[in-house]
Amino acid sequence: MTDNASDTPKANSQGQAMWGGRFSAKPAELMQAINVSIGFDKRLWAQDLAGSRAHARMLMNQGVITSSDGEEILGGLAKIEDEIATGTFPFRDEYEDIHMNVEARLRELIGATAGRLHTARSRNDQVAVDFRLWVRDAADRSAAQLETIQRALLAQAETHADTLMPGFTHLQPAQPVTFGHHLMAYVEMFGRDASRFRDARARMNECPLGAAALAGSPFPIDRHQTAAALGFDRPTANSLDSVSSRDFALEALSAAAITATHLSRLAEEIVLWTTPMFGFIKLTDAFTTGSSIMPQKKNPDAAELIRAKVGRIMGSLTTLTIVMKGLPLAYSKDMQEDKVPTFEAFDALELSLLAMAGMIADLTPNTENMAKAAGAGFSTATDLADWLVRSLNMPFRDAHHVTGSAVKAAETLGLDLSDLTLEQFQAIEPRITDDVYAVLTPAASAASRMSYGGTAPAQVRAQIARWKEALA
Ligand code: ARG
Repeated sequence: MTDNASDTPKANSQGQAMWGGRFSAKPAELMQAINVSIGFDKRLWAQDLAGSRAHARMLMNQGVITSSDGEEILGGLAKIEDEIATGTFPFRDEYEDIHMNVEARLRELIGATAGRLHTARSRNDQVAVDFRLWVRDAADRSAAQLETIQRALLAQAETHADTLMPGFTHLQPAQPVTFGHHLMAYVEMFGRDASRFRDARARMNECPLGAAALAGSPFPIDRHQTAAALGFDRPTANSLDSVSSRDFALEALSAAAITATHLSRLAEEIVLWTTPMFGFIKLTDAFTTGSSIMPQKKNPDAAELIRAKVGRIMGSLTTLTIVMKGLPLAYSKDMQEDKVPTFEAFDALELSLLAMAGMIADLTPNTENMAKAAGAGFSTATDLADWLVRSLNMPFRDAHHVTGSAVKAAETLGLDLSDLTLEQFQAIEPRITDDVYAVLTPAASAASRMSYGGTAPAQVRAQIARWKEALA
């Protein structure tokens, strides 16, 4: 990755290797190896150029540099942008990071004037602003992708507002719910996830540029100008904090980790639902893979990988938290280690979000299997107990007991609750009447749960309408 750049502002370890083989060369190479970050921070190139442009314009406006120098610098930066976009920019290890790579190239393109760009600026505030801009974009993308998933869920929920399925607790059949209701639970989770990214964005949206190395600048810079130019709400208010803080990234990573946790739960349900034992949904070939030995297999790999990605994302949050822990103010090189985990986490999250949106749109429920399962496992037992309370004015605890006896009787006879005859019911509780059968179907059970946020299709539709409006 090294190039023969003469006139470099930094020592070239290639040169040292020529004469220092016995001791100097090795440490020098190791020094470069541990120090170099261009391999990963080149991803900040667009942010770095944006920051440099805003800074150069501000320096011109403030008369810190002349307009002709400023224009030259801006012209050079435009050329660099072009080179990077077309893949001809020479990224070089000996210039360590994206900031110095850009500056070294600027010097090659426009000469000594390039050196004026770094007036009233340090790599410390430069990297702080670049990274903040990157994380801000990542947070925006994540929030937008979450909304894409929500829309996909809403479309399925709307189609399946009445589709019955078992609701589970302990993964045991509990009470019937609708598939739409189940999917809407994730719409709520992803809604909170998106709002966490928006909250994090609002807090991070202060511009550290102009903090310079750590103490601010003696030049008459206008930090409000650069902040506005880069879309920040205001400049950061303490120069030490500006160059030392990465909690904006920690917060975004926390939001990412929580989002990934939610994604993994839905992914796990998709894995379960696609098994022949559940048989609740089908994915098309688009989101499944085959087995090299078992011809019958159709594996939900995308769901499994989403379920696993949370490890990487959590790991990134842990990594950066530990990097930041105990660091004295202000900048320390430790902070260079902020980028890889953050990039990795958001790459994993982005893929997961996109794949999940794809799978949600792709899946088709097997409504027959779901409806059958909705009635299994005495799932309407609570409805029987509630009927005893309402119709016979029984205290709920007694009703619970009577229902338990009915379940036991049905289980012994190998029947569902609704298959018990009236005589069999009356043998348990003589006051039970014919009316009881109306509450024992899964459809009646679900429809009866009209409390706000309940699974009754009318309630589910109301929540779908509310979300559609919110996302419009
Ligand atoms: N590559 C560095 C980083 O990512 C840039 C800042 C370096 N600052 C310094 N004083 N060495 O943190």
